Amino acid sequence: MQDIVKRLEEMRKAAEMGGGQKRIDAQHKKGKLTARERIELLLDPGMFEEWDMFVEHRCKDFGMDQQSIPGDGVVTGYGTINGRVVFVFSQDFTVFGGSLSEAHAEKICKVMDHAIKVGAPVIGINDSGGARIQEGVASLGGYADVFQRNVLASGVVPQISLVMGPCAGGAVYSPAMTDFIFMVKDSSYMFVTGPDVVKTVTHEEVTHEQLGGAVTHSTVSGVADRAFENDVEALAMVRRFINYLPANNRADAPHRPTPDPSDRVEPSLDTLVPDSPTKPYDMKELILKIVDDTDFFELQPEHAKNIVVGLARMDGYPIGVVANQPLVLAGCLDIKSSIKAARFVRFCDAFNIPILTLVDVPGFMPGTAQEYGGIIKHGAKLLYAYAEATVPKVTLITRKAYGGAYDVMSSKHLRGDVNLAWPSAEIAVMGPKGAVEIIFRKDLGDPEKIAALTEEYRVKFANPFIAGRRGFIDDVVMPRMTRKRICRSLAMLRSKKLENPWRKHGNIPL
Ligand code: COA
Repeated sequence: MQDIVKRLEEMRKAAEMGGGQKRIDAQHKKGKLTARERIELLLDPGMFEEWDMFVEHRCKDFGMDQQSIPGDGVVTGYGTINGRVVFVFSQDFTVFGGSLSEAHAEKICKVMDHAIKVGAPVIGINDSGGARIQEGVASLGGYADVFQRNVLASGVVPQISLVMGPCAGGAVYSPAMTDFIFMVKDSSYMFVTGPDVVKTVTHEEVTHEQLGGAVTHSTVSGVADRAFENDVEALAMVRRFINYLPANNRADAPHRPTPDPSDRVEPSLDTLVPDSPTKPYDMKELILKIVDDTDFFELQPEHAKNIVVGLARMDGYPIGVVANQPLVLAGCLDIKSSIKAARFVRFCDAFNIPILTLVDVPGFMPGTAQEYGGIIKHGAKLLYAYAEATVPKVTLITRKAYGGAYDVMSSKHLRGDVNLAWPSAEIAVMGPKGAVEIIFRKDLGDPEKIAALTEEYRVKFANPFIAGRRGFIDDVVMPRMTRKRICRSLAMLRSKKLENPWRKHGNIPL
């Protein structure tokens, strides 16, 4: 018995050393933590239960039968974050470059299967040279097994990817199918084909960082939801982020009591919207002033900045916020912002997180770039997402709600539950100037007449009352009372029940 215990200890020690001290040092030199250090920081202290520490690969080719490292390049198991169960896998770059073998994939699949069964989030830490080259198709099969589980878990349990090293080729498609991707600046990258292949095929010269680094994906491509400075910050932020999420699609999101009164009056909001309808203001100021404790976890803050999305709490309950940002492109909806918001709305709906929509939108972005890029199809994504969502939907129009964009932004017509407007709201087919220039085209040579007609149009249509008369707006609220009115609406909606007709699945325009 004692021999066995001794052997067990030795085996554990061997597994914990991964690819050995030299490779651990190399990992640290790159500014990266090891797979185990990352798990330690991610989970509550002492709560990690490791599985499959003794699993080894089964490859016999290319000298692999002479090299086996217990754990086979991925640390897996479960633990808690702030007392709530999560499943984790963390690829160990010190072992065969974190490459994915058949056995490595089986370990990941095991934690994913359990996560689905017990209804707990999966957090994957990616740091890998891709498919284990010596194993060939067995490792490709392993990837597909993981992909299949990503899809089955989608909308059932939250899936979060932390990309903290290389993630290239087919490997990108597992994180791509998870709900959120967080990356680390300068030490992580994601691309389908690397700089060398790019150079051969398209003759472009790019660095790893330019092609698929954290900054590229969190600004240009929108693949990543956030880019953090280092491993420690990224792991701390995931701990914070998970607090907003329910454990699964049937569980309630965690309630966090707050000292911030739900009826807090915020007089400064009365002057947030400038008198001039063309002057911008920062929609994030409104968000921070109405949510609990000014605590807002923004997603994709540097991508498609004309729309703001993220998680916050009101009255202690998590909500998803979607808001047009007048500071960028006047808050227009374009291809990127529609896709960004649509995906977020669908996430909230899948996990029963109520959606607060803050509207100041002058319409869809005009131009050939948008039309050729398929704004019709991509704009439709957001419309579709809002229309199919059955979670509580509270909408507040602060200023412009023009044209088709008015309909899209969680309008009453798309089953918005509570639709409010500030007195400064202008709900119309378009702005007064554009409207008059179309209706009175023949009078364009008479600026005085046009000015008078524009003013007439503004007085008649650029206000919330016509929509109010039809019941499209439930009430016009004073800006200072916004938090109280939204908190009350959300409280009333907590028991909301709404189901869409049965179908296998809808056909969202992709
Ligand atoms: N399969 C097997 N072993 C791999 C591997 C893979 N896919 N990727 C990396 N490794 C091994 C390396 O052989 C090396 O082993 P060693 O220390 O015994 O020499 C170790 O992991 C570390 O890799 P290294 O290349 O030294 O690290 P790096 O930081 O300089 O480069 C990569 C990282 C990912 C850019 C590089 O390893 C690479 O290009 N890997 C192959 C990527 C690929 O084509 N994958 C297959 C298709 S998805």
